[in-house]
Amino acid sequence: MILRIAAVGVVFALIAAALRKTSWYRTKTAFIGLKRLATLSEEDKQAAIDGYKFLQRMQDGEKTETEDETKAVADYYKVLNNVLSVFDLEKLYLPPLLNEFEGLYENQLLCEQAVLQELNLTNPETSHLLDMGCGRGRISHYLATLTGGQVSGYNIDPNQIENAIGWAAECGMSDRLHFKVGNHHNPLEYESGTFDGCFSFQAVWPFFKKEELDDHAREMYRVLKPGARYSCSEYLLTPHFDWNNEEHVTLQKAYLPTLAATQSMYPADVCAALERAGFNILISAPSRGPAWPLGEQKRDLILRGRKVVRGLESIRMMPPWVEELLELLQTGGQAWTDAEKAKIADLNWRIVAEKE
Ligand SMILES: C[S@@+](CC[C@H](N)C(=O)[O-])C[C@H]1O[C@@H](n2cnc3c(N)ncnc32)[C@H](O)[C@@H]1O
Repeated sequence: MILRIAAVGVVFALIAAALRKTSWYRTKTAFIGLKRLATLSEEDKQAAIDGYKFLQRMQDGEKTETEDETKAVADYYKVLNNVLSVFDLEKLYLPPLLNEFEGLYENQLLCEQAVLQELNLTNPETSHLLDMGCGRGRISHYLATLTGGQVSGYNIDPNQIENAIGWAAECGMSDRLHFKVGNHHNPLEYESGTFDGCFSFQAVWPFFKKEELDDHAREMYRVLKPGARYSCSEYLLTPHFDWNNEEHVTLQKAYLPTLAATQSMYPADVCAALERAGFNILISAPSRGPAWPLGEQKRDLILRGRKVVRGLESIRMMPPWVEELLELLQTGGQAWTDAEKAKIADLNWRIVAEKE
């Protein structure tokens, strides 16, 4: 079994490196992703597929409770984060194309620098930031490297948190990076007035119903110091989205499970909740560039990867569920591109809000 995992890993790592002419770090990340996938339990894999199907049924109109939605999202991400890491998407978000001569990873860094700048930190090196929905902690790691200060992060999925803690230790930054399991829908497990700023990347507002926004906005306000800011790059509808337009609604239904999101909010609703919590809104604006060109690059890479997966499947070196998941991942990709081109949805809407 171990030999088979290693063989699959080596084949994939070599193919990935050749396809992407990429660094050793990324090849190693792809290999670790494969190893983790190979050692996941059957229940975890089935739960991920069921989670995705749950998200699809939600979009088809099934009435669902937030608790069950959160469970479906966590189950799905537990597997998805490892699959995407194989395709060089260790940070689980599509940034705007800010520099057309650079790839996805470099554009992520540019996006993260812009969000950090909006936090307007007075003393970056003594700052303590909060990363909400921190994924595998790589954005926290980058921001801590830029500021020289501390970053705390929470995420619903223990698998991603385990990975984040491991990476912080490997980088010798465990004293400045603090990760734990946490849920946006519960009170945040931090003392009031702890943070000099908080931020999120496609990780908060896609999981809230309109009537739930106030509770989380109040929690964000509570854990920040006076004068501290929230800055983000988040999936939101644009004001052009019309719930009475059948075409808009059909596109939204098709792409939402692919984004692994449960809700679509307008920026105005999020900003109103932040204002009610006591924030001043400094910026609420569309992304500085489209995400779809980078999404299409990844789609092409995944397509090529699927061919390899199919080949490995035929010689029984890869279980069939991997291809099933890749198939699910691609479903809705075109709908996203169409929605973004029509400017009815934005993956990187920018909000900057300041605590009074
Ligand atoms: C699109 S990913 C972005 C992750 C991270 N910000 C990054 O860029 O790598 C969305 C993240 O939100 C997390 N998430 C979803 N629902 C959550 C919840 N209720 N509480 C905390 N995290 C949640 C998911 O596990 C996932 O890591």
